[in-house]
Amino acid sequence: MFIYSKMYRKLKRGPQVILPKDIGIIIAYTGVNKNSVVVDAGTGSGWLAVSLARLASTVYSYDLRDDFLAIAQKNKEMLGLDNLVLKKGDVTKNIDEKDVDLVTLDMPGSEKALAKAKRALRQEGMVVGYLPNAEQVQKFVSKLGSLKFTDTHTVEVIVRDILVRKEGMRPTNTGLWHTAYLVFSRKG
Ligand SMILES: C[S@@+](CC[C@H](N)C(=O)[O-])C[C@H]1O[C@@H](n2cnc3c(N)ncnc32)[C@H](O)[C@@H]1O
Repeated sequence: MFIYSKMYRKLKRGPQVILPKDIGIIIAYTGVNKNSVVVDAGTGSGWLAVSLARLASTVYSYDLRDDFLAIAQKNKEMLGLDNLVLKKGDVTKNIDEKDVDLVTLDMPGSEKALAKAKRALRQEGMVVGYLPNAEQVQKFVSKLGSLKFTDTHTVEVIVRDILVRKEGMRPTNTGLWHTAYLVFSRKG
């Protein structure tokens, strides 16, 4: 059993969330910091959005569904994150913000949002795709190529829980294995 920090144990959950093991690498690889402006979609339960808002200047998070935005709103209020702006909208059709440092995409068909993500990003800004299936990665990376994104890098984070006991230390028999692939890329 993975012991999350207190914050994650308190957060409400609706649709499938991005878990701390993947949030950690998003933060580290993108270098998101107190000066960063971020666009995130879909909001879902807002687990990624609130994690980014704890570090960034402003996070704009979009979702199509009022019921999911309401869950994220509860999480936002619980953490007192005034710099998290929850917005109803379809990011494949429009992203209002310009010159942002980072766009994170966790939604079905996220490759369809890449053209709008590119318009929203500043030069050298980064996009992250969170993609459960390999076929989605193929489509996402292919679209990144056609939009002339650069430095594309795909990873999967696997955490092995270790049993530490007098009688023998070894990885546990079970654990959280595949969640999603993560694709990182830069507006060239
Ligand atoms: C798996 S959830 C996101 C979970 C979220 N990243 C988290 O950590 O809690 C996917 C969300 O994408 C939203 N979505 C799907 N298509 C979308 C679109 N075109 N624009 C904005 N949101 C979209 C869905 O309504 C759903 O809430």
